[in-house]
Amino acid sequence: MDQRLEQSPVSGESALADTSAPVLEARGIARRFGAVVALDNASLALKNREVLGLVGDNGAGKSTLLKILSGVLLADDGRVLLDGKQIQIRSAHDAMEAGIETVYQDLALVDTMNAFQNVYLGREELAGRWFLRMLNLVDDRKMRKRSREVLDALAVKIPSIGASVRAMSGGQRQCLAIARAILWGRRIVILDEPTAALGVRESSQVLDVISDLRNHDVSVIVVSHNMQQLMDIADRITVMRLGRTIATRDVRQTEVSEIVGLITGAIAADPATDEAGSVEKPV
Ligand SMILES: Nc1ncnc2c1ncn2[C@@H]1O[C@H](COP(=O)(O)OP(=O)(O)O)[C@@H](O)[C@H]1O
Ligand SMILES: [Mg+2]
Repeated sequence: MDQRLEQSPVSGESALADTSAPVLEARGIARRFGAVVALDNASLALKNREVLGLVGDNGAGKSTLLKILSGVLLADDGRVLLDGKQIQIRSAHDAMEAGIETVYQDLALVDTMNAFQNVYLGREELAGRWFLRMLNLVDDRKMRKRSREVLDALAVKIPSIGASVRAMSGGQRQCLAIARAILWGRRIVILDEPTAALGVRESSQVLDVISDLRNHDVSVIVVSHNMQQLMDIADRITVMRLGRTIATRDVRQTEVSEIVGLITGAIAADPATDEAGSVEKPV
């Protein structure tokens, strides 16, 4: 190791540079749909407790990449690493076991259940429906208490823990879905355009909750078309173009115009590099 780095003052950025393995990494992911190449060598690295923004034009492959990390789609090629170790994500269940929670746009909340029941939704996947039913009967109070704690910790504002989610706004529902990730002890939360259907005030509530996830040891990948929003909440932004991840920028060292240029192609892609920063061999 470089002695200078160890001795430099802690205020120096290089002294704080995180050299640990990323929490989650995708390397050289490829995926076709028939003749359509949705992903062609897509790679990203999510660091511990960071918010990584993922951007790109429509059809760039963002959702496909997230679905592969969520176990909804299988990759044709490439590798996924968790804490530097290769893992197989063949199903949504594999992803959950790896500590990855995906918040879908339709949120997968159940209208007929109330808030805390929704927060607990998914337990049956780990312990069987039988267990959930028992929990409902026996442990209702405990569920309410724990849900309340999680929602409070994230400063999620919902009318009441026993309120039906049908009556909740899109933003409240989104926050509830995110809160589930904490309750289940997930380490990684993936969100695909979480604010696309929300108004300004609702968006900002959801963004606050996303931003706060890092304080709960959760790392986040979030797709958004709103560049200014991403600049506000993300630590880094990875840009996709035509099925490839073409550049990653620290938000403190870029601006919206550069990101937009990378998205449109007005600014050239970075040379493909691996995580150590050396140029990667073609796959
Ligand atoms: N299930 C599918 N069947 C066929 N083509 C698909 C499917 N899903 C995505 N694609 C295609 O893959 C490409 C990438 O799509 P997607 O990942 O949804 O992009 P993005 O989320 O960046 O807009 C697009 O050309 C899209 O039409
Ligand atoms: Mg998409």
